[in-house]
Amino acid sequence: MQLAHLWLTDFRGHVASEVEVGPGITVFAGGNAQGKTTVLEAVGWLARMTSFRAAPDSALVRVGCEKAIVRAEIAPANRGPDVRPDLIEAEIAVAGRNRVLLNRKPLPRARDLLGTLRVTVFAPDDLRLVKAGPAERRAELDDLLVALSPRYDAVQADYERVLKHRNAWLRTWSRADDPATLDVWDEQLVRAGAELVRGRLKLLERLAAPLGKAYGDVAGAAADVAGGYEAAWSDGTLDEHRLDDVAPLLAGAVGRSRSADLERRLTLVGPHRDDWRLSIDGLEARRYASQGEQRSLSLAVRLAGHVVISELVGEPPVLLLDDVFSELDETRAANLVSHLPIAQALVTTAGALPPGLPAERVVWVAGGRLEPGVRP
Ligand SMILES: Nc1ncnc2c1ncn2[C@@H]1O[C@H](COP(=O)(O)OP(=O)(O)OP(=O)(O)O)[C@@H](O)[C@H]1O
Ligand SMILES: [Mg+2]
Repeated sequence: MQLAHLWLTDFRGHVASEVEVGPGITVFAGGNAQGKTTVLEAVGWLARMTSFRAAPDSALVRVGCEKAIVRAEIAPANRGPDVRPDLIEAEIAVAGRNRVLLNRKPLPRARDLLGTLRVTVFAPDDLRLVKAGPAERRAELDDLLVALSPRYDAVQADYERVLKHRNAWLRTWSRADDPATLDVWDEQLVRAGAELVRGRLKLLERLAAPLGKAYGDVAGAAADVAGGYEAAWSDGTLDEHRLDDVAPLLAGAVGRSRSADLERRLTLVGPHRDDWRLSIDGLEARRYASQGEQRSLSLAVRLAGHVVISELVGEPPVLLLDDVFSELDETRAANLVSHLPIAQALVTTAGALPPGLPAERVVWVAGGRLEPGVRP
């Protein structure tokens, strides 16, 4: 699956942009604030239906317009003479529902698009993956789960919906209410929550070896990199060998937490509070690793995710590298270039590219316009 052609209409600063993207590495070059990241953001939106810059959909629509349109031709991996590319047309609305057409037919639900295109993103603030709180790492795992199997999008939505209702009930309950009302929410919370946790545990097992290897590749030195699942509601030893224990453990913990939940008016246990505990040589990376180690680790997490998706789905996601080389020292930039997985890649840069990056083509970006250039 490769991106073949992209059109942007009223997407941020792009009024009407079009670009043909072939296999290999395409570089989007230009000065600051010209609309380079925006191009990658649009491709990323088609894959995840959200911005990798964590911007709300309304910010993606050009100021003063009602909707943005992203169109893309996605060529299947087995390109034969009679295999036609898929045409995606996504309308992102400032207000109201988004609409998505696949091969000119509207999808029943816009989110049915998930799974059509997959991306692996490298961006300047990836460091947050290691440095920030657990939410960033949970989001990383959950994004990977959806890329591997789009049904996890529904599992996550279910869990969030139940959690929201349960918390709303807790916020407003009074002593006159029957706490047994919570039984219904608890049961649903455990069902969706356990499924999500089992998915995360299976994923962690898959990620373990590629993560260690990727860290060694990027840092240029081997280290013992580990990533265990940390859940306050479990006994601390949950892993993929204990998938059957997840639901009973979670149910027990949710039950035991009820009085505390009622008192705090909040759901205190569950996968919305769990963490993916990344460590280097036994020390928690978030607290102990150096800035350089943290950067290598965040790159390694993305590379490992890319490897796992490629293996399980059978073809590599499109790589989106937003301005990453400017953040890396020469050694790490060179290590990343030499270990970049074989895949289609879109790369942005405001300056020089690291030597040795085998770019196929350059597209100049200026004032929200795209100008294909010549091979560098
Ligand atoms: N919704 C919007 N409507 C109109 N213009 C927008 C919108 N959102 C962002 N912009 C404009 O797009 C420009 C930024 O685009 P983008 O982030 O893609 O730039 P860039 O080329 O990646 O820059 P840098 O090199 O600094 O990262 C800004 O000038 C901003 O004002
Ligand atoms: Mg940018």
